[in-house]
Amino acid sequence: MAFKGFRIFFLIMVLACVGLFFFKLNLIEISIFCQKREEVTVLTSATYTRNFLHLPDIDCRRTPPFLVLLVTSAPGQLEARMAIRQTWGKHRLVAGKRIVTYFLLGITTKESDLIEIIFESQKYRDIIQKDFMDSYYNLTLKTMMGIEWVHKFCSQSRFVMKTDTDMFVNIFYLSELLLRKNRRTRFFTGFLKRNERPIRDRGSKWYVSKAEYPASTYPPFCSGTGYVLSTDVVSQIYNISESVSFIKLEDVFIGLCLAKLKINPEELHSEQTFFSDEVRFSICRFKKIVTSHHVKPHQLLIYWVLLEKSKDEECPDV
Ligand SMILES: *[C@@H]1O[C@H](CO)[C@@H](O)[C@H](O)[C@H]1NC(C)=O
Ligand SMILES: *[C@@H]1O[C@H](CO)[C@@H](O)[C@H](O)[C@H]1NC(C)=O
Repeated sequence: MAFKGFRIFFLIMVLACVGLFFFKLNLIEISIFCQKREEVTVLTSATYTRNFLHLPDIDCRRTPPFLVLLVTSAPGQLEARMAIRQTWGKHRLVAGKRIVTYFLLGITTKESDLIEIIFESQKYRDIIQKDFMDSYYNLTLKTMMGIEWVHKFCSQSRFVMKTDTDMFVNIFYLSELLLRKNRRTRFFTGFLKRNERPIRDRGSKWYVSKAEYPASTYPPFCSGTGYVLSTDVVSQIYNISESVSFIKLEDVFIGLCLAKLKINPEELHSEQTFFSDEVRFSICRFKKIVTSHHVKPHQLLIYWVLLEKSKDEECPDV
């Protein structure tokens, strides 16, 4: 009896070793392995998680968020992520609605960065990572990873926002406006860009060749610095994305998906609230905007303290 048990144990060990050999166990994969052992709550199907190196700790079926903030970030931007975790990215309830913030990351060849991210992910449980090279021109892949994650793991949420690491986001005003607008489906908003033309100047960061995009204008889209969509649109984008020709400008790519879905980006409010540039800080100004760009981590921390301190103070109407 004991001998039989040992033989089965031995067989399992041999199979495990063969398995590990084919798995080409390296550092990243050890992390997936550990992750899988710990992520009991989200591990619904092994095939779903196969390509994700890191997943956040949430069960959206049990605690569906009102708003999921997806922040494109690069492995080296730890300081900025920490500032966001202490300010607008703090997990919290706003008017009884749950808001969660997760960071979207790719990988680098710098091993020390990858090791740091394993620890960071274990500590904060707010990182979504896959194994594509993290670079500006892979931003579309990064955004689509976020879309995939929401589609597969958090379709119970109401809204999703995609934004960046160097942004100020007023989650309080955003929630208020979303609740007031009360649009649940086919909703897409942000800093609207209409009739934008591809930049054909090779020297530009946003250069797009005619081979990549032949038409002379882009369909309406919203600046990638911050856009918000109802979660049904996330699934529809995920569904249709494979049949949309790839373009490395992620916000344009999303615009192409929307055009195919016949969804029109709309304004959230009669006043402009999304800014793709820097808005000069003042307490009253920042209370009535949703996004501002080019915010440094130390500025963000200061702005947040000032805004929290003046929470109950009235501002003159703007
Ligand atoms: C994007 O990621 C893929 C997969 O890792 C990689 O092969 C490719 O070189 C990356 N592209 C850029 C422009 O970095
Ligand atoms: C996905 O797309 C196909 C056609 O491309 C469509 O028939 C189907 O209804 C779509 N599913 C969802 C969930 O949008």
